[in-house]
Amino acid sequence: MIVNKITDLIGETPLLRIKMKNNKWQVYLKLEKFNPGGSMKDRMAYNMIEMAEKEGKLKPGGTIIESSSGNTAIGLAIASAIKGYKFIAVVDHHASKEKIDMIKAYGGQIVIVGDGYKDNEVAVVEREKTAAKMSKEIPNSFFPNQADNYNNRGAYIDTLAKELLDELGKIDSFYGAIGTGGSVCGTAMGLKKRNSNTIINAIEPDGSIIFGGPGKPYFQSGTGNPKDAPIPQIIDYSLIDNNFYATDKEAFNTCRFFAKKYGLLIGGSAGGVLYKALEDINKKANEGKTVILLCDGGEKYLNNVFNDEWMEKNNLIDKKIEKVISSWIEEA
Ligand SMILES: Cc1ncc(COP(=O)(O)O)c(C=O)c1O
Repeated sequence: MIVNKITDLIGETPLLRIKMKNNKWQVYLKLEKFNPGGSMKDRMAYNMIEMAEKEGKLKPGGTIIESSSGNTAIGLAIASAIKGYKFIAVVDHHASKEKIDMIKAYGGQIVIVGDGYKDNEVAVVEREKTAAKMSKEIPNSFFPNQADNYNNRGAYIDTLAKELLDELGKIDSFYGAIGTGGSVCGTAMGLKKRNSNTIINAIEPDGSIIFGGPGKPYFQSGTGNPKDAPIPQIIDYSLIDNNFYATDKEAFNTCRFFAKKYGLLIGGSAGGVLYKALEDINKKANEGKTVILLCDGGEKYLNNVFNDEWMEKNNLIDKKIEKVISSWIEEA
């Protein structure tokens, strides 16, 4: 394959098939780690920039400033590098060291907020306020504001949804993590646009409040919405049929299982989605075809999810989870 710029490699990510033990469901994992920046967020980052250029919100020599847990910022840093913009990421300590180092490697600057927050608390409100304030102070700057930017959701309608239908034909159900809601709602819109009656399932961390609940801290990064943050404007609840909550233990022990048994390194939120999806599919008696969207790779979480000391320190190891997954799926 020959391409002219790195962003031409965004999308058309592969599907890995998993075989269930207890029924005949066909399960496909959409591996978004194969995007250039290692996550599905490359899709929306590039689209938000292209649309801002078209709408005249972003001018040559400008500065892009965004609040992010890391993946959106990596996508924006790549787009900024090839388009010649300056890029500033406003992050908190939910952004892993690996993500921060990647943003810097692509030439982005980092502003860290959230002093006083614990390791499992996410400072979304402070991040967004800081990015908005900086975009008012810095001349010729643009704050994409992914939580309320419809070009985030729009990025998936004619890419991800189309890719899935082109490859698989009929899709009975779809599972994905929900944070801003861009990927799940955009994919759902794209599937509906193409007359697919797919059941849409959204997974958030146990402690996130997108589908209600009192809220509590969680370690899963990039996904969910903490109790003090407003619900992202681009979430359209009418597009989502079912919701699930993944605990940190379920999410992270699933990641560790798939690395050791399948040679597949996935990120923390992807682990949560995968666990809840397989648990749900395992209960089904009939046949069907499902897609599980895995947002990013485990390379960005080597210092936490895949670090034994960190997992033990935070009381997150649970060997039972690996046994349960083994009872649901065939070996690789
Ligand atoms: C690792 C990870 N999981 C899940 C999500 C949630 O995706 P969305 O914002 O499309 O709902 C994100 C978004 O940044 C992410 O980085």
